[in-house]
Amino acid sequence: MTTQKIIDLRSDTVTKPSPAMRKTMAEAVVGDDVFGDDPTVQRLEAMVAEMLGKEAALYVPSGTMANQVSLYTASERGDEVLCGTDCHIINYEVAAPAVISGLLVHPLPDEKGILSPEMIRKNIRPQNIHNPHTAIIALENTHNRAGGTIYPIETIAEIESIARKHGLWMHLDGARLWNAHVATGIALEMYASHFDSVAVCLSKGLGAPVGSMVLGTKDFIGKARRTRKLFGGGMRQVGILAAAGIYALQHNIDRLAEDHANARYLAEQFAALPGLSVDLETVQTNIVIATVDPDMMSVDDFTSRLSERGVLCVPFGAERVRFVPNLDTSAEDCRRAAAAVTEIMQE
Ligand SMILES: Cc1ncc(COP(=O)(O)O)c(C=O)c1O
Repeated sequence: MTTQKIIDLRSDTVTKPSPAMRKTMAEAVVGDDVFGDDPTVQRLEAMVAEMLGKEAALYVPSGTMANQVSLYTASERGDEVLCGTDCHIINYEVAAPAVISGLLVHPLPDEKGILSPEMIRKNIRPQNIHNPHTAIIALENTHNRAGGTIYPIETIAEIESIARKHGLWMHLDGARLWNAHVATGIALEMYASHFDSVAVCLSKGLGAPVGSMVLGTKDFIGKARRTRKLFGGGMRQVGILAAAGIYALQHNIDRLAEDHANARYLAEQFAALPGLSVDLETVQTNIVIATVDPDMMSVDDFTSRLSERGVLCVPFGAERVRFVPNLDTSAEDCRRAAAAVTEIMQE
């Protein structure tokens, strides 16, 4: 009996390291990174700093830690962070800014994940004895919950000029900045130039099993290194993992275009089906969010019927499901996934 491949479209984090990536990991030269002498980590940090045009970089275990190390290092207790209501920092990081850094997170309404300069401008508080101190603006590019949308570079530049006028820190949650870069052709360096701290992930579309980076000036990264230790994120012979990150950067950036094409294909197929709707305008990179008509089927029903057909997606709110084509799902897999979805919506 042949077993059918499970097509896992729950996230771009579900990918397994390829044999070539595992070989690179096995052969990595390592040292004790807390002592600062793991050459593979140093190589990865130098490589990413150069790619993003920043003075220095720090390897951390996760995207969540990259964001939280950045926020902690850039702030004082009681400071306020402005971010969009639907951002990852607010919705999926377990209230870490409040719990760890004593920050007040101020959620602002965004449009498909994108904050307008006007929205930022009118929410910066005047400084007086009463107000929290507005200190940080955190943007997310691409925007996960909005369906992988890309911040227009002009909007980022306008927000930055407001930040500079008010002396605010600009932080980028760039977990999927690689996707924005591949989709628009805008240089990573150009995106990063508008921010004081940047977080990027190696373990999403790029396919490394672990790892994210924090980027900024030498001085900031020196302080962030201490914060990482405080958070328990200092790791020892971690070059074994950093080697996977180097491999991912060398081999898996340009191919993100395939994931984007597969996402567009799925979105167009879904949008044509009764009982499913997709805002095609938001399908700009590798994420597809579909709304399931609750009169037809619950989201739980949808995901379980689909998994019976060997296709996995995740519930993404009461009526929404998320599909994320990735390194381990080919165009043919996505055709099979679309066929399975068509079948359950027409049953
Ligand atoms: C936009 C964004 N930021 C940060 C993260 C956190 O990454 P991690 O799961 O590695 O903590 C994610 C994870 O999905 C994400 O989508």
